[in-house]
Amino acid sequence: MNKKVLVSALSFRRSEAAVKFLQESGCELVLSQVERALKEKELLALLPGCAAIVAGNDEITDSVITASVPELRIIARSGVGYNTIDLTAAHRHGVAVTNTPGANSKSVADLTLGLMLALVRSIPRLSGKLHTGVWEKSIGGELGGKTLGIVGTGNVGREVMKRAQSFDMKIIAYDIYPRLELTEACGVVYLPLEQVLAQADFLSLHAPALPETVSMINRQTLALMKPTAFLINTARGDLVVEEDLSDALRCGRLAGAGLDAFISEPLERSCLFGLSNVILTPHIGASTLEASERAGLIAAEEVARVLQGLAPLHSVR
Ligand SMILES: NC(=O)c1ccc[n+]([C@@H]2O[C@H](COP(=O)([O-])OP(=O)(O)OC[C@H]3O[C@@H](n4cnc5c(N)ncnc54)[C@H](O)[C@@H]3O)[C@@H](O)[C@H]2O)c1
Repeated sequence: MNKKVLVSALSFRRSEAAVKFLQESGCELVLSQVERALKEKELLALLPGCAAIVAGNDEITDSVITASVPELRIIARSGVGYNTIDLTAAHRHGVAVTNTPGANSKSVADLTLGLMLALVRSIPRLSGKLHTGVWEKSIGGELGGKTLGIVGTGNVGREVMKRAQSFDMKIIAYDIYPRLELTEACGVVYLPLEQVLAQADFLSLHAPALPETVSMINRQTLALMKPTAFLINTARGDLVVEEDLSDALRCGRLAGAGLDAFISEPLERSCLFGLSNVILTPHIGASTLEASERAGLIAAEEVARVLQGLAPLHSVR
């Protein structure tokens, strides 16, 4: 049986246990040589003859899938988001698509809290100054007593809630599927989006990129927020209209932003570059050893199952 597997996901390549698992399952691994998601053209060159791909945020388009069948049987995303995979094309060709729900939620939640603290205490800005010998103090704020607004209370959102609870934050949220158990466990109050925007001192995005969520943070919605509020986006860049955010930050309509995801990645040019009240990180939410191991092992197991003729455990539709 053909067991050639293209491994693109960087996190997977870093997980010795996941690589070993696939090798011991008899798979021949083709490891991507670049430290970023693969473009359509690169996939078209690498995928033919492969029965599986362990994917990052690669451009897995209709053309890529059509050119890779019938050999290609599974696209195993080592991570959660699958907005760069053409699901319709995959399903049309009978190619399984899986992800690793929950595997990196704790890591993304840690980064989210890190961005909140870094913003409210101006840590990167003050550290940058001190590195040049400038001893400048500024008055920050505490998280305790502040209102955290969460958009999307799934795996990451609820980990963020747990952490925010320990900081004595008030938690409000908007989700199309409110979870009553979270109201009991974390004291979260679900509200309409407009009210969450208006009340939040920190607004943290944890919804997937869907037609209904793309550009949800724009000039109009930003205008509903407090000028003292901070926006955190560790979800998907497409949720935010970056030009509108940049305008809001420049004219003091918003206090600051912490962003880990961007409309175009890797981010090479941006209207957000150079703004002292913005912290930018290169999509590192899931980039921890722990999350890589967890996601890698789940993805490896999915590949092994499908190549053995078994149904995957975490299909996405
Ligand atoms: N920065 C990173 O490295 C990183 C890592 C993992 C996940 N993510 C991203 O974080 C986000 C959340 O991941 P997750 O694992 O918690 O996903 P999840 O599927 O567990 O949760 C998503 C939540 O969003 C809600 N939702 C769906 N449509 C909505 C809408 N229109 N409005 C409001 N809420 C809506 C869902 O009901 C669900 O509760 C995703 O965008 C994912 O791609 C980023």
